[in-house]
Amino acid sequence: MRWVQGFSITGLGFLAYPFFKVLMPGLSEDGFLDVEFGDLRPGESKSVAWLGRTVIVFKRGRRWLAPGPEVTELKDPESLESRQPTFAQNAARSYRDDVFIFYSNCTHLGCEVAIAPERWEAPIQCPCHQSGFDASGRVLRNAAATLNLEVPNYRPVSANAVRLERSRPT
Ligand code: FES
Repeated sequence: MRWVQGFSITGLGFLAYPFFKVLMPGLSEDGFLDVEFGDLRPGESKSVAWLGRTVIVFKRGRRWLAPGPEVTELKDPESLESRQPTFAQNAARSYRDDVFIFYSNCTHLGCEVAIAPERWEAPIQCPCHQSGFDASGRVLRNAAATLNLEVPNYRPVSANAVRLERSRPT
């Protein structure tokens, strides 16, 4: 009887796979997702589904490449308490200055943040309790959230694309 159950589960997996491919067309069988962003102009963003969460790619324009808010206005300016891969442990929290890639969940209670490009100092906003984050996802001092937005693991695969990958244990 066990082999019947195993067969059923395997069969369900085969049936479900095409649906996942439709929902996440770039998702490979190895569990990575390639994301192109060459079509984004400064101030624009795109969202992708990644392992049950949403990842936002934000194209930072020149206005955000200048130094952001004073460090005294930020709760964790060096991102020492916040989660990001080693390569993003810098002020831009990214592998390149003009693109910021982050999980959309607010670090307060998990609401989905949104891009508000009209706000220079805090172009990432949470609609639930109005936490503001700078263009590198660093939380402002007066916010309800305590940590900077989380950065997923990824690496560049071309001039305008990255590959989201599962984090490797350190
Ligand atoms: S959930 Fe974002 S500020 Fe509360």
